[in-house]
Amino acid sequence: MTIEAIRLIGPGVDRVDGPLKVTGAAAYPADFGYPDMAHAVLVRATVAAGRIRDVDTAAAESAPGVLAVITHRNAPRLKRGPDTPVWRQPPPPLQDDRILHYGQYVGLVVAETAEEANAAGRLVAVDYETTEPLLELDDPRAEVVSNPWGMDAHRGDTAAGQESAAAIVDAFYSTPDETNNPMGLFATVAVWDGDGLTVHDSSQWPHSVRATLAAAFGVPESGVRVLSPFVGGGFGAGLRVWPHVVLTALAARTTGRPVKLVLTRPEMFTGVGHRTRTVQHLRIGADRSGQLTVLDHVAKNSIAVDDDNYEPVAADSAWAYACPNVDVRDTQARLNIPPPTSMRAPGQAQGNFALESALDELSYSVGVDPLELRLRNYAEVQPQLGLPWSSKALRACLEQGAERFGWSARDPRPGTMRDGNWQVGYGMAGVSFFWFQPPCQARASIRADGTAYVRSSATDIGTGTYTVMTQLSAELLGLRIDEVRLGLGDTDMPAGGMEGGSGLSAALGTAVYAACRGVIQAFLDTVAGDPGSPLRGCRLDEVTAEHGRIRLSYDATRGEAYSDILARHGLPELTADGSSAPPTPQDAGMAPAGAFAAKFAEVRVDPDLGLVRVSRIVSAVDAGRILNEKTATSQITGGTVGGIGMALLEETVTDPASGRITNANLGDYLVPVNADVPAQDVLFVGEPDRFNPIGVKGVGEVGLVGIAAAIANAVFHATGKRIRSLPITLDQLL
Ligand code: MOS
Repeated sequence: MTIEAIRLIGPGVDRVDGPLKVTGAAAYPADFGYPDMAHAVLVRATVAAGRIRDVDTAAAESAPGVLAVITHRNAPRLKRGPDTPVWRQPPPPLQDDRILHYGQYVGLVVAETAEEANAAGRLVAVDYETTEPLLELDDPRAEVVSNPWGMDAHRGDTAAGQESAAAIVDAFYSTPDETNNPMGLFATVAVWDGDGLTVHDSSQWPHSVRATLAAAFGVPESGVRVLSPFVGGGFGAGLRVWPHVVLTALAARTTGRPVKLVLTRPEMFTGVGHRTRTVQHLRIGADRSGQLTVLDHVAKNSIAVDDDNYEPVAADSAWAYACPNVDVRDTQARLNIPPPTSMRAPGQAQGNFALESALDELSYSVGVDPLELRLRNYAEVQPQLGLPWSSKALRACLEQGAERFGWSARDPRPGTMRDGNWQVGYGMAGVSFFWFQPPCQARASIRADGTAYVRSSATDIGTGTYTVMTQLSAELLGLRIDEVRLGLGDTDMPAGGMEGGSGLSAALGTAVYAACRGVIQAFLDTVAGDPGSPLRGCRLDEVTAEHGRIRLSYDATRGEAYSDILARHGLPELTADGSSAPPTPQDAGMAPAGAFAAKFAEVRVDPDLGLVRVSRIVSAVDAGRILNEKTATSQITGGTVGGIGMALLEETVTDPASGRITNANLGDYLVPVNADVPAQDVLFVGEPDRFNPIGVKGVGEVGLVGIAAAIANAVFHATGKRIRSLPITLDQLL
């Protein structure tokens, strides 16, 4: 089977891990237990800035069942984990008396039971010397980091572009803090054996957990094993190695016992990252024909005091459209906030809202249909690099999405469409999602019974990785799906890349591709001098794998089964490793493309109550080759739900005086429920991408991006009210 023979849109195979999950047989990190296991709870700061003047642990230490109370006073020195290509790990916990944010860990209590640890945790008395926290983006005392990732971009002459514009939109847009909130509470279980450490963890990147724990405790990485075969969601929260992971390992080392720590929902708001708030200034202009003449996007988002975070808000505006005069700049203000992290489409989720809202505003100013405005400014080549795209079917997304949605029925005048008392609005947004692909490794074996075992330490956080990699391996090895076992989430396996940035399908898929081809090559090598084999002397490019055997591509009768070759040579299995690392755009001679999409939303607004109901959403997506239509559709659908939340509901509220998050629970932090989510229509367009041999682009994040803008634009079309600040709440519409 060759890649070319795999259909553009793969069959909707059910999740291979589905039965395990619905029968409760899939063990998540919190499900693990060990004999003699102790339990840890965290003590968190109740102020946002200052220092610890005193801490009294006597009552906690003498409480029933308590094994250890650890604070900055008795914690050992712990090293910070190694930097990753995109961020530093958060600082190690309990290293000094400084308080940098509300909810920062100031202590850890370990006890025989979780209840005893909880009770004792409340007895730790901390006395703070507080200073006035930095909590607002525009606080003049806050340090501002400019161009944090070197992604600021400039082309042409924006002053000239502004002068030649027939219409200009000059406006500020803002988005609030939002919290990832995966369903699964993050948990860590740690067990030491001498200097060896085994950890079960809710991670999107187990090898990074391994490196961080090895560094923290000064032990060899090879002795640290991290297991994350099942993770109850992440949305980015599991990309970094958070202090509670280090503290659980510390608790186990201190007490000499296996230790489990499960975060509470409130701790999930301060301890595992969040999407940062933004303020964005857009200045875009176009000539009378709707041709963009200037695009100026300046964004500020928040960052913790002693931390980095990859959150390019404005950066992607530089290459989304073919505007000749462009300026995009990102800045970050250092505040006394919990360390943020990626949350579904870091930066772009917020940046796209502002850009696509501004384009919508411009469409009314120049009198060009919003859909037509996107088409007129279509970037045929990557405008910053000047290189052709590895693939781009955004035009098909826009045209076929509009067709499916019925965009042509839209009355262009705002506030004119009605359904009874409801004001009806149509809105749309374009999406040019960024490209990212981490380096990744995988290993494939074929065993004596002719079945395959393919594995990598990469994770499946619910996205369908087990399923699509099983399908891909089966196709490449010529096996049935039930003849392939896929292993993930164990650092004893070859290092998988992070499950993040929508890059894992390409990264792991390419590594699996290399490993599967490698194992077929190993079979050919085995029979290279075998007079009994019809495959003797055959090259990889001459053979096809199907029905559990390798055969000559041009002669189906000349071949033999994997199991026969292994048996004749007395081998238990043959194994090969594969790895992937993307080329540079310059070497490849093309600009690597992430997914593209067009999002269309219909909303209904009750003019008396300000209620917004999303009644229809169409997402047209170019994600290259779709390995599994069912799981890919599921990804887009789930991302859309996140987009509806971003548009209408989600906001992490911080008390401006204390820095405390006031809605750190799922009762007060609103996420969409079924009644908020309309029927969705997802269509995939495009063709295999040229930047990786399997032709896939990620679908993890593109589902969310563009939804907030499409809804905001639909709200304007329904009501004539332009809401530039998310979430769109009824008070803004009354
Ligand atoms: Mo994603 S925010 O890259 O898990």
